[in-house]
Amino acid sequence: MENVHFYYFFKVSLLQYWNDDIESPIVQRIKTLSNISCRGKRVFVRVDFNVPIDDRGNVLDDSRIVASLPTIQYLIQNGAKVILASHLGRPKGEVVAKYSLSNVAVVLAKHIGQPVLFLPDCVGQEVLTEVAKMLDGSVILLENLRFHKEETANDKNFSKQLASLADIYVNDAFGSAHRAHASTEGITHFVQQSAAGFLMEKELEFLGTKIVEAKHPFVVILGGAKVSDKIKVIDNLLEKADIMLIGGAMAYTFLAAGGHATGSSMVETDKIQVARDAIQKTKEIGTKLLLPVDHVVTSALNTETKTMDPTSYSELDIPEGKFGVDIGPKTIAFFGEEIKGASTILWNGPMGIFEIQQSSAGTFAIAKHVAESDALSIIGGGDSGKAVKESGYANKVSFISTGGGASLEFLGGDILPGVAALME
Ligand code: 3PG
Repeated sequence: MENVHFYYFFKVSLLQYWNDDIESPIVQRIKTLSNISCRGKRVFVRVDFNVPIDDRGNVLDDSRIVASLPTIQYLIQNGAKVILASHLGRPKGEVVAKYSLSNVAVVLAKHIGQPVLFLPDCVGQEVLTEVAKMLDGSVILLENLRFHKEETANDKNFSKQLASLADIYVNDAFGSAHRAHASTEGITHFVQQSAAGFLMEKELEFLGTKIVEAKHPFVVILGGAKVSDKIKVIDNLLEKADIMLIGGAMAYTFLAAGGHATGSSMVETDKIQVARDAIQKTKEIGTKLLLPVDHVVTSALNTETKTMDPTSYSELDIPEGKFGVDIGPKTIAFFGEEIKGASTILWNGPMGIFEIQQSSAGTFAIAKHVAESDALSIIGGGDSGKAVKESGYANKVSFISTGGGASLEFLGGDILPGVAALME
């Protein structure tokens, strides 16, 4: 509980600090890897290797591993002793076999073309002994940090134990930077030097600087299930954006706020007022907030079997007994026109239940429109990142964030504890 209080106090104080100095982009206020001399040094790198796995712990998507390669390869080439640490899943302080990082070590070794020594723990005598034997340019991957409950508790002694492995601490785990844990925050108090890795730097540049200094027209596309998940993002971006396109289930709460019939669509009744306030604010500040004008609807959905009753199209008002599961063709065309005119695009949240083929067209069509535009296109990670990859357009967008919750918090204007810890 004490840690929770500390975290909120810490976050609020830093928000104050940030607001007082809003002009200087965060990325200019942290030390980055290129400012640090690392030859012969033990460099402890917090990476986010929390990758999707199957029941046996096999890696299903190695994007996060690939995204950290520039930092790892730079350190190898510059003669550092590279000690990598990450969490995988939420094992709650227990050793859970399927959350072992051993398979990740194999995938990583293939990518870097050299052996990765995988250690069965992240602290303790064996780790100290192996680290002491490291040669310059060699790589160790420690076992899952969350096999120790002290990691998520941001325990001081555990942070010290991790710090004892390092001459230099590098945080490249943007995806975990919203967590004030021992390896993302606590450790920075016990090391001589801390710096951001290249992935962290890139994330802060794209989700921070490039949004703050966005070229206009700036189009923000928001989707996903809930308004409640995106309130802070809406608040933070409403004034910066010229156009905000809202799809996904969160659009039904906005449509309900505008007095439209939504059938049995998912509407957050306690957030209707929030949506009304946002609509009112856009009128005052001149931002265009655009909602779907038609929908794909169904009458029954089974989330376990991922099946739904046959779908049909509905006009703006959704009839009783039906609920929306995707944006319709008129909306795709209308949103597409707005996307075409953009100079900067930020997209966070799918337009429908894209995991089911019948309700995937909207999300994939928006991915195509974003990919075909000449704008700088930034994808906010999580489900939208997954959707862009599945659509086959991943290499046609400017940047896909590796963060899920971290991107949302950052885009909502929060200073993330893992980032704050790197500020001088
Ligand atoms: C993520 O996947 O969003 C990060 O790795 C953080 O994971 P967590 O939500 O379990 O802290």
